[in-house]
Amino acid sequence: MEMSHLISLLILLSFETFGDSLRFPKNFKFGVATASYQIEGGWNASGKGENIWDRLTHEHPDWVKDHQNGDVACDSYHLWKQDVEMLKYLNVTFYRFSLSWSRILPSGFSNYINPDGVRYYNDLINELLKNGIEPMVTLYHWDLPQPLQEVGGWPNPLLAKYFEDYAKIAFELFGDRVKTWITFNEPPEVCESGYAEGANAPCYKSSGIGDYMCGKTLLLAHARAYHIYDKLYRPKQKGKVGITIDAIWAEPKTNRIKDIKAAERQMQMDLGWWAHPIFSKSGDYPEIMKNRIGNLSKAENFSSSRLPQFTENEIRFIQGSFDFFGLNHYSSWLVSDLKIPVNAPVSHWKDVSVLMQQDPKWKPSAATWLKVVPWGLRKLLNWIKKEYNNPPVYITENGFADFGELNDFGRLDYLKGYLNALLKAILLDGCNVKAYTCWSLMDNMEWRDGYTLKFGLYYVNFTNPKRTRTEKASAEFYKTIIETRTILEDLEQVIVL
Ligand code: NOJ
Repeated sequence: MEMSHLISLLILLSFETFGDSLRFPKNFKFGVATASYQIEGGWNASGKGENIWDRLTHEHPDWVKDHQNGDVACDSYHLWKQDVEMLKYLNVTFYRFSLSWSRILPSGFSNYINPDGVRYYNDLINELLKNGIEPMVTLYHWDLPQPLQEVGGWPNPLLAKYFEDYAKIAFELFGDRVKTWITFNEPPEVCESGYAEGANAPCYKSSGIGDYMCGKTLLLAHARAYHIYDKLYRPKQKGKVGITIDAIWAEPKTNRIKDIKAAERQMQMDLGWWAHPIFSKSGDYPEIMKNRIGNLSKAENFSSSRLPQFTENEIRFIQGSFDFFGLNHYSSWLVSDLKIPVNAPVSHWKDVSVLMQQDPKWKPSAATWLKVVPWGLRKLLNWIKKEYNNPPVYITENGFADFGELNDFGRLDYLKGYLNALLKAILLDGCNVKAYTCWSLMDNMEWRDGYTLKFGLYYVNFTNPKRTRTEKASAEFYKTIIETRTILEDLEQVIVL
């Protein structure tokens, strides 16, 4: 019997001996998440400025699957009290939501603060606290003020400073009550989908160049916000600041060395691109990323690497800028090695050079990219544990897409599987996971997919002006998990010997 199996057996036996069932640790936190553009509506209410998603959906309605937009969305701008009632019913410890930068600073710059934006978030935060729910606040969930896009958006290095100004204002205004801050939601999506693949606003296509410029600004912006908090606000406010990175689990498609290496390369050059500079001991981008892009850039006749380098000072500034590791995870991919000719067009995909597929046997969801692979979460958490010295991880998103059915057994099954995998990672593998967040509290505006895909524990009637919310089966299921701190039906699955 392998050592790790023996340890697992001992843990299980000790649980039996003490008559306890396998439960999430006492201080483990459960929550749900949303994001400003996806739920608020009130897109131009009381002084709010325009952001890049307002611009995209208004100028190119046909770029959104159902030609809809977030002008009203779930109307949480007006219905936030109902949202809090739902949260209360679910019995969550915390609510993760994001601030709309242009609701607070209509032009994106800090020279004018919109009082109504401040009032809105104060009301929400106060109502949450009144109901015993902790606010977990994301500063940037993709809705860049349009004026900052006019000057180039994230590839413009000056945005790091403007983000710091915005963060500072948010800490100043709300930090007496908000104790958990997430600087950025999913940097890979901000930079890859936004500036490389043309998938998310502002829909630029500059893969292998614009995405790396965006990445450099974003990592520095994150570190600036972290340090300003550390210096000016932490002494009094005593909160925590982290970043949320999204990651798949990359499983080698075969056990051939080149596929095993390809899968590791994929992990390093997608998750590691963001995590290594912040969470590793050495800081900076992963070696493999610097080497590959540097070598390819040379072969492509660039005068320097397409991956803009950090100075030594910047490396030190970014390294260690975290109190927790925010992780969004939904699904896994099978990865194999792929040879791409040097003269192929420049792209991040060429830099990584892998083929990604999903096993047709994996259970599907309504989203093409989302297959049900619970064991992937466990492997991913173990990878993070090993790679970054077991940092405190908050799972800040995990969830399932369907078409909005009230008896959402697909979601129930997904949650059951992923929470079981999480429980194994915590109890059997010693992964330092402190919180779990289900995406999402309610159905909402799923970006370019509009309202065609649903992730909510609550159904929202988008044709009713009152945007009525109705509890789904999964809401009841999640509530039970929160209250019992265990996944009753599947405990036997925890035994992995
Ligand atoms: C991650 C994003 O943060 C969120 O905005 C999105 O709705 C979910 N994934 C589902 O795709």
